[in-house]
Amino acid sequence: MIKKELLYEGKAKKVFTCEDPNLLIVSYKDDATAFNGQKKGRIDQKGIINNQMSNYLMQRLEKAGIPTHYVEELSERETLVKKVSIVPLEVIIRNISAGSFAKRYGVEEGIVFDEPTFEISYKNDALNDPLMNETHAIALKLATKEELETIKKYAFAVNEQLRAFWQECGIILVDFKLEFGRDVNHQIILADEISPDTCRLWDSQTKEKLDKDRFRQDLGGVEEAYQQIMNRLKQHI
Ligand code: TMP
Repeated sequence: MIKKELLYEGKAKKVFTCEDPNLLIVSYKDDATAFNGQKKGRIDQKGIINNQMSNYLMQRLEKAGIPTHYVEELSERETLVKKVSIVPLEVIIRNISAGSFAKRYGVEEGIVFDEPTFEISYKNDALNDPLMNETHAIALKLATKEELETIKKYAFAVNEQLRAFWQECGIILVDFKLEFGRDVNHQIILADEISPDTCRLWDSQTKEKLDKDRFRQDLGGVEEAYQQIMNRLKQHI
């Protein structure tokens, strides 16, 4: 499949049209941003790692009955995906307190929850992705009640699958962000990516952060952390 025209360029990926009107080609960049684009940088090889990791995990999720946009890996950085209309929500599941949850509620990082939490934010950079509840999303016609039920069911199922997989790799899945879309048949499927950009991943033993928080918080060893996560994944597939 050959790229035709650039449809959209985001902070971490470019999206191209191709010969098939129902498919798109995603190309992963090494560019990294944080705090809604205020902090900018580059993480060498990130595009390759995120592409390969996301594709591997999405194929695993498909086998577990969660539909995704994944079609075929075309190259180190490029993947063929199903065209979707994105539901403009950032869907976040948390198993352990960290990041904006810890900040918002004034608690330390590392509190292990009895049950995973589910939250949604309006995907809108101009408004800084405000947190909302399900009735707000329905009021704004971002998704229907049925779609939100499906999204929630899939998000918790993704958590169970990924948590178990990362545990085998000696990694704790702290939290993650998902994005969903509607395919050509108006069905909800998992889209975007699953990578150290979109998940918090801690070493099970040392609790060392092995994800984009190293970039967000200037902890150093950013490339090494992405590489280490990829190596752990490869050892278990
Ligand atoms: P948060 O604690 O900053 O709300 O982040 C929760 C999870 O979502 C974390 O794993 C990082 C991920 N995330 C994104 O993928 N994109 C974003 O823009 C933000 C803010 C968080």
